Amino acid sequence: MRPAVASALLDAEARRRLLDLVDVELDVVLDDFTTPTARTALAAAEVLITGWGCPPIDEAALRAAPRLRAVVHTAGSVKPHITEACWRRGIEVTSAASANAVPVAEYTLAAILFANKRVLFARDEYRAAHGREDDWHARLAAAGNYRRRIGIIGASRVGRRVLELLSPFDLDVLLSDPHVDPAEAVRLGARLAPLPELFARCDVVSVHAPQVPSTEGMVSRALLAAMPDGATLINTARGALIDQQALQEELVSGRINAVLDVTTPEVLPASSPLYTLPNVLLTPHIAGSMGGELARMAAFALDELQRWTQGVPFLDPILPEAWDRTA
Ligand SMILES: NC(=O)c1ccc[n+]([C@@H]2O[C@H](COP(=O)([O-])OP(=O)(O)OC[C@H]3O[C@@H](n4cnc5c(N)ncnc54)[C@H](O)[C@@H]3O)[C@@H](O)[C@H]2O)c1
Repeated sequence: MRPAVASALLDAEARRRLLDLVDVELDVVLDDFTTPTARTALAAAEVLITGWGCPPIDEAALRAAPRLRAVVHTAGSVKPHITEACWRRGIEVTSAASANAVPVAEYTLAAILFANKRVLFARDEYRAAHGREDDWHARLAAAGNYRRRIGIIGASRVGRRVLELLSPFDLDVLLSDPHVDPAEAVRLGARLAPLPELFARCDVVSVHAPQVPSTEGMVSRALLAAMPDGATLINTARGALIDQQALQEELVSGRINAVLDVTTPEVLPASSPLYTLPNVLLTPHIAGSMGGELARMAAFALDELQRWTQGVPFLDPILPEAWDRTA
């Protein structure tokens, strides 16, 4: 991982815990596997603790690490650094994706509740009214979170956490996920629905599927067109899942609303209307862990490391057979 990531991630408590669990040189933080320091460290390593900025663990890195048996990732996706060669070697892999899912789900819950309450609209109209009296109950007659219908795309780590957070509210939740059966959907607090029904019937649709070849562009122009007037699309997953041109056209028309933490491209050009449209809440890919939330990912990774040192299976293993449906 990048040295700056290591300093942000590992506070004094995490460092102490790490020293208790394994033999580790805390000042050897690698972001290049080809340097003499890296070669010396790899020659002895049985487990790599990885993080943002880890280079690919390819054949050459593995040749330099003959004793390596496990990779414990302190962030979400391992796709930037786990290679085919790791699976061929039988390396065990885990990640802190479940811990990273927590803040994304919190962001999503807040976005859903504020979308239904029409908070952006109310803020703008109140500001424009500039001290004038208005009948807010009449103007916001469509607002509120009672018996609204929410569509969740993907019972992923994030999607499952969102479903859990939604459970205390008076909301009707639909779920679309080809890897989930109707009974499991019910256990998760939702009813399984095909995408066309979910888009046509929900007040808010929130996207939580991974970006893999089969999900790119899955939120098509036709699905967006099926959303009811005034509905809100939330995307904290990846911009590539959505037909961005079609979404932009719908948003410019003002027919629907969006909360977008991710876009295509990322970062959007300065000329993009999404920066200033009143019906769009655009954030710079901040839903995942940041600041103090990094410590949650570190703690999760250390728990996994502890299991590994005790010969206990990882709580959240990354499996090669699930690679094409994992973020
Ligand atoms: N905005 C951020 O800061 C941020 C942070 C973390 C994750 N993410 C994104 O959130 C999304 C979810 O991440 P995760 O770690 O929970 O994913 P994950 O790896 O847990 O998701 C895998 C699951 O997604 C579901 N899925 C797969 N294909 C699907 C499809 N076609 N339709 C519906 N569901 C499908 C399956 O249940 C699968 O098991 C990803 O796109 C990820 O990149 C964004």
